Amino acid sequence: MRENIVITGFMGSGKSIVAEKLARKLGMEFIDMDQIIEKQGMSISDIFARYGEKYFREQENKLVKELSQKENMVIATGGGTLLSADNAKMLSEKGEIICLYADSKVLYNRVKRKDNRPLLRGGNLLDRINQLIEERKKIYDNIKLKIDTSDLNIQEVVDRIVDILKNKG
Ligand code: S3P
Repeated sequence: MRENIVITGFMGSGKSIVAEKLARKLGMEFIDMDQIIEKQGMSISDIFARYGEKYFREQENKLVKELSQKENMVIATGGGTLLSADNAKMLSEKGEIICLYADSKVLYNRVKRKDNRPLLRGGNLLDRINQLIEERKKIYDNIKLKIDTSDLNIQEVVDRIVDILKNKG
């Protein structure tokens, strides 16, 4: 059994698609945390609208607890999962955490067509992205393994992760 690989980072950084392709390449199980939470019957937007962010974070925390019992998975977190120190601790004890990031204008271009992210709604989208990045800077900066995906395609990000993990031994 191999330890888990946890792909985290801001909304639009490419977590889900990169984690899915990486899992396929390495023959590991792909887990998308947001998808699992939505499988309980409600979209992330509806969960936020009906029960609020705090409830959503509790669902994330419950899921992290479950996932931390397992191995051999590539996990795409939600963009805010690592804001919880408890989640960060559990995920890092059982796996390697890799943070994807990108220039805020690149993130803007990737997320602007979708309206499925409650934290980005209302007001000017680029301002909101910059504000949230600023608020979360410490959390993302704290993660040792980071990849700037601004100028990379999905395959290049996957290859870079494989290289990083190889070099770590
Ligand atoms: C969030 C990111 C979203 C989703 C929720 C909250 C965040 O996931 O978990 O809307 O706090 O950054 P993606 O990063 O996959 O969009």
